[in-house]
Amino acid sequence: MKILGIETSCDETAIAIVEDGHKIVVNEVFTQEIHTKFGGVVPEVASRNHIIKIFELLDTVFKKTGYGFDDIDAIAVTQGPGLIGALLVGLNTAKTIAYMKDKPLVPVNHIEGHLYANILTYPELKPPFLGLIVSGGHTNLIKVEDYHIYKSIGRTVDDAIGEAYDKVSKLLGLGYPGGPVIDKISKEGNPIYDFPVPVPRNNFFNFSFSGLKTAVRTFIQKNPDAKKEDIAASFQKSAIKALILRVEKYLKDYEKLPIVVAGGVAANSYLRAEMTKIAEKYGVSFYIPPIKLCTDNAAMVASLGYFLYKKGRYLDGDDKLTINALSSMPIV
Ligand code: KG4
Ligand code: ZN
Repeated sequence: MKILGIETSCDETAIAIVEDGHKIVVNEVFTQEIHTKFGGVVPEVASRNHIIKIFELLDTVFKKTGYGFDDIDAIAVTQGPGLIGALLVGLNTAKTIAYMKDKPLVPVNHIEGHLYANILTYPELKPPFLGLIVSGGHTNLIKVEDYHIYKSIGRTVDDAIGEAYDKVSKLLGLGYPGGPVIDKISKEGNPIYDFPVPVPRNNFFNFSFSGLKTAVRTFIQKNPDAKKEDIAASFQKSAIKALILRVEKYLKDYEKLPIVVAGGVAANSYLRAEMTKIAEKYGVSFYIPPIKLCTDNAAMVASLGYFLYKKGRYLDGDDKLTINALSSMPIV
């Protein structure tokens, strides 16, 4: 089965074709660089640029593969969460294709899609496992009890970790997105400053990153001559430690489950190294997608779409014309 996946929830326009949930036939991602100059994603600008790019990308996907609409078995598309205007571009494109070509439409959840970047890559991966989803919009620690059955363990009470990376990058004058540049320059610095790793009071497994960001801001104001590389490395050490501490506590006090990390921040080299150590320490397996599948892409959407389709969770007939985009769409 070939699924065409479409993703436009934020600032990546992405289209992919995935066969039987695990084989990427083509995976095109266009990142809207235009937001760099604004220091963050401007929703209206994102929508307009998705409109400019989406059909060009669709054309590229068909040219590269030699496939046409008739070779596609179903269309999977991100329904939410994300920026409404941005989501609507992908969703309406998918609805139009599904309507014109009489194909089933599979609406998918972007956060669940991130997790499926792992299922796509590692066919041997099966629930139950411990899932950590870390992106620009989300920081969720979940137990994946079975396929599509999630139990929340912890979540951020304020900023997402990727958002903290982006804000600290802005404070250091390093632009947007902050994750890749902080990851890079941290390697040239030393984590010599002690930034706090706040723990929200009601649940140890919850996360809080706004205090860390404020601590970095205050430090920069007081120490304008401190090296950016050292500040970045110190921030990163604390931010990643916040993740490691929760995962370690769960493995130690509850169950030894495989660790599965997903989302844009999963591209982080320090996170990848530290999580590998924790998995080794507790003798559990550790799964993380290749870098290209960590940040937003449509291969993860197509893969998830395949598995949902198999379970009968798709729309057909006039039903597929009724769905709308959702800015908030929690998986638990
Ligand atoms: O998953 P994603 O592409 O979009 C959302 O669904 O949010 O994640 C984007 C986030 C941004 O905050 C970006 O700074 C962060 O992922 N990111 C990273 C790295 N690459 C991207 N954070 C830390 N280290 C990286 N190497
Ligand atoms: Zn994402």
